Amino acid sequence: MKQLARQGDRWDAAAYDGRHGFVWRLADDILNMLDPRPGERVLDVGSGTGHLTARIANVGASVVGIDSSPEMIERAQAIYPEIDFRCADIRSFVTSQPFDAVFSNATLHWVGEPKLTTFRIREALSPGGRLVAEFGAKGNIRSIMSAAMEALNAIGAPPHNGRNPWYFPGADEFSAVLSETGFSVDQVRTTDRPTELEDGESGMGNWLRVFGRHYLEGLSPEQITKFIRFVEDSLRPTLFEQGRWIADYRRILVSATLPANS
Ligand code: BEZ
Repeated sequence: MKQLARQGDRWDAAAYDGRHGFVWRLADDILNMLDPRPGERVLDVGSGTGHLTARIANVGASVVGIDSSPEMIERAQAIYPEIDFRCADIRSFVTSQPFDAVFSNATLHWVGEPKLTTFRIREALSPGGRLVAEFGAKGNIRSIMSAAMEALNAIGAPPHNGRNPWYFPGADEFSAVLSETGFSVDQVRTTDRPTELEDGESGMGNWLRVFGRHYLEGLSPEQITKFIRFVEDSLRPTLFEQGRWIADYRRILVSATLPANS
């Protein structure tokens, strides 16, 4: 791959699977929280290349995976032809066949618009249905974001390259959104999860090119090289250990239920 798994709003799904598989490999906790049952209807929001959707289907649940990226859906459907994948954005998702559970791993920080998103999730659930989700929490990738801002200033990049495209709420903030939408909050907790990036020395550069692509928009190849070097140099003392980059991920884990009479 030309190191780029994400181009504009398009994703190179094979590259995503190849170099950034930690996104779905580190999902055991959240799958355990979902605890899917045979026969349940589950909606997987941001199903990506479908590996977690397949783990949910493997217990006998009837699962639908949605993702706003056609490339992700195409790859997921090719790998798991027996599963129902659909290209859809949760912010406009409507169904006539409600689900028993909505599951989402490492997606909601990309979606933003938390009130609209949780409203659509509520509308997709049956009364008594549950939401189980994991995504970036307040403080997620704080050092990476700070190093990136310094690097943008250092190379004279335009201010809009520094805009933050992610939604990383704290536990209280997201609990309030859920309550306002009509959910009963079972658990919302945040936890540090330092995350090893793949590909050794190249890991931080790969991560920035894929997940931090907005930082690079409109920069020349020389500026991009300088930017990545600057970030690597700033972060090396704290996030590089024994030949591996460890990103300062912080997660929010969410479990919430709708009233049975909703
Ligand atoms: C995350 O999973 O926390 C994340 C991934 C890419 C960009 C920002 C955050």
